[in-house]
Amino acid sequence: MPDVLILYATKHGHTEKVATRVARALERDGVTADVHDAEAPTRPVARDYDAVIVGASIHAGHHQRAIVDWAKSHRTSLSTMPSAFFSVCLTAADDTDESREATRRYIDEFLDETGWIPRKTETFAGALQYREYDFATRLLVRLMMRKAGHPTDVSDDYDYTDWDSVDDFAHECAAMLAADPLGRRGR
Ligand SMILES: Cc1cc2nc3c(=O)[nH]c(=O)nc-3n(C[C@H](O)[C@H](O)[C@H](O)COP(=O)(O)O)c2cc1C
Repeated sequence: MPDVLILYATKHGHTEKVATRVARALERDGVTADVHDAEAPTRPVARDYDAVIVGASIHAGHHQRAIVDWAKSHRTSLSTMPSAFFSVCLTAADDTDESREATRRYIDEFLDETGWIPRKTETFAGALQYREYDFATRLLVRLMMRKAGHPTDVSDDYDYTDWDSVDDFAHECAAMLAADPLGRRGR
């Protein structure tokens, strides 16, 4: 069994990319990771791992229900092990008080709803993936992006993620695991 579970939820694949990037960075630090889709039929069990990293994206103001439910049902195990949560959204790409407040609120609402207090939380700016959207979604997102001053050329995708920050987050998670008093497989 790998050391770390990275459980993610995604709508158009960007959070999966972030989760995979975290896994690769962990591997460079000697930590193996099991990257698992929260919507897959098999449901991983938190206590089978030494640490858990959960990631989800924001759509219409909320993280995916599958991740919220999983975190809620595993919060007791999660509270006894190194754990981290990352959120992926577009407000994190904006530099305004309003967007910073929204970005904070997404995390706060997730923690309130699940009752889980991860040792580390992080938000990454996501991506605009016009080419992945169906017609109605493309239209809706284009309207929202016009208001927010983001690109509206739907023939292209736009990646706002700071990938170095993703690597930094992974290294900090590896350090958290190394510093865990119960040690690897010691719990
Ligand atoms: C229909 C739709 C609604 C969205 N709603 C929000 C939102 O309310 N707040 C936000 O910050 N980002 C919002 N986003 C942006 C996504 O969080 C961003 O595109 C992210 O990278 C999606 O990741 P995923 O592909 O893993 O689902 C929305 C995106 C779409 C397509």
